[in-house]
Amino acid sequence: MEEGVFLSPEAIDFVMGQSDPLSFVRKAVEVMPQMPLVITIQDIRDAYCSSPVGGSCPPSSPTSPVRRGEVKVLKDITGNSTCEGNIIDFARYFNDRFQSIKRILVRRRELVGCVPISKAMQLEREVRCIGIVNDVRTTKNGHKMIELEDEEGKGLVLITKESPLLDEQVIHDEVIGVVGKVAKKGGMIVANEIIRPDIPIAGSMAPSDSSAQIAFLSDIHVGSITFLREKWGRWVKWAKTQAKKEGLEYILIPGDCVDGIGVYPDQEEELEIEDIFEQYRSLAELLKELPDHIQLIIQPGNHDAVRLAEPQPAFTDEISHLFDSSVLLVGNPCYLEVEGRVILSYHGKSMDDLVNAIQGLTYNHPLDAMREMLRRRHLAPIYGGKTAIAPEKKDHLVIDQVPDIFVTGHVHSAGVSDYRGVRLINASTWQDQTSFQRMHNFVPDPAKVPMVHLGTGKCSIKDFN
Ligand SMILES: [Fe+2]
Repeated sequence: MEEGVFLSPEAIDFVMGQSDPLSFVRKAVEVMPQMPLVITIQDIRDAYCSSPVGGSCPPSSPTSPVRRGEVKVLKDITGNSTCEGNIIDFARYFNDRFQSIKRILVRRRELVGCVPISKAMQLEREVRCIGIVNDVRTTKNGHKMIELEDEEGKGLVLITKESPLLDEQVIHDEVIGVVGKVAKKGGMIVANEIIRPDIPIAGSMAPSDSSAQIAFLSDIHVGSITFLREKWGRWVKWAKTQAKKEGLEYILIPGDCVDGIGVYPDQEEELEIEDIFEQYRSLAELLKELPDHIQLIIQPGNHDAVRLAEPQPAFTDEISHLFDSSVLLVGNPCYLEVEGRVILSYHGKSMDDLVNAIQGLTYNHPLDAMREMLRRRHLAPIYGGKTAIAPEKKDHLVIDQVPDIFVTGHVHSAGVSDYRGVRLINASTWQDQTSFQRMHNFVPDPAKVPMVHLGTGKCSIKDFN
């Protein structure tokens, strides 16, 4: 109460079990980056697991030993698509996006007492509100003007050119919190703070007793004349001799498994296999070469033969029957749990829009784009750009659960990083530079296989160049 925070019942139980509950919780509060209104058991876990404040770290959820070979699909559009694409669907879709991210934002201490935008406009004290960004522009005087909308109305938010917030990259259709004061003249809120729904700072993956590794292979592009057959052969040879020794038990393919047909103009000139089913048949043959003990998980991307609009469902029977029945086919995006680790897998098409909208982002640094997605708790915030979005009842692109591992492909780059305890992986490609990439001066980083050890959380990249 002295610190102005509450504890959840579960957190109280844990805190009261400590020898000195008050100093225990005080220490935890000191290292919390943003003080929440309600401290949950997860906040305490984050505080004690990620910083050297001492004290015991509450065990993370399942204390039972991990089950070997266990893969659970936690969230996937496959079989759950209901939209027709009419205007009611779109209204409902954006409302769900707004509500889902608002639920994350209202827990933030900075936004305690937030009010609807229309009400905020009538107040003279400092106000807090949450809205979806309708528009953002720079005025002729160099200020930034954001049009913010909630369920009840709209309002303008001004970031003055003198404000330290001027460099904040606010993008269309993201959901943000604003703290500011209403300007008496002009009917707008002058922003003092922009609050993002960002993920909490957590420690790195707490060790588990899993001994398995998972590998990520994206953008294989089978069927393209630039498919890197020889390098693929080198990887398969490695897998046949080393996978078992290294504990490699899972492979996840986050999309663009084949090159597809009619994806871009004159694509047929760059195709070795011009029939889509033949492309998948060829892919299935290549995957059969991999050792039998490895569980394969395959997701579609924008070159694959499913609807282009995200969320994309898994392959239909026409294609799925070409694969071995043990292969797990999932949608894009998909939340999975593999031996107790939560993995968010998304092909990554929205990076085409993010690199245009956010200053400083480039195709060469997709891990930065992935950080921007996590900060906004959304895989494809910008609507109406290059990423087609289907207006499903629920917004499947909201990052409502913080994963242990977040993987993307699409940009043919390769990298491993960490953001607030989440392993970030961009999973390379098996396609050489295409004429389109040459035209845009983009050099891909192919034939690399990022892996994560599910027990230790250790990341590595194997290079087959
Ligand atoms: Fe792609």
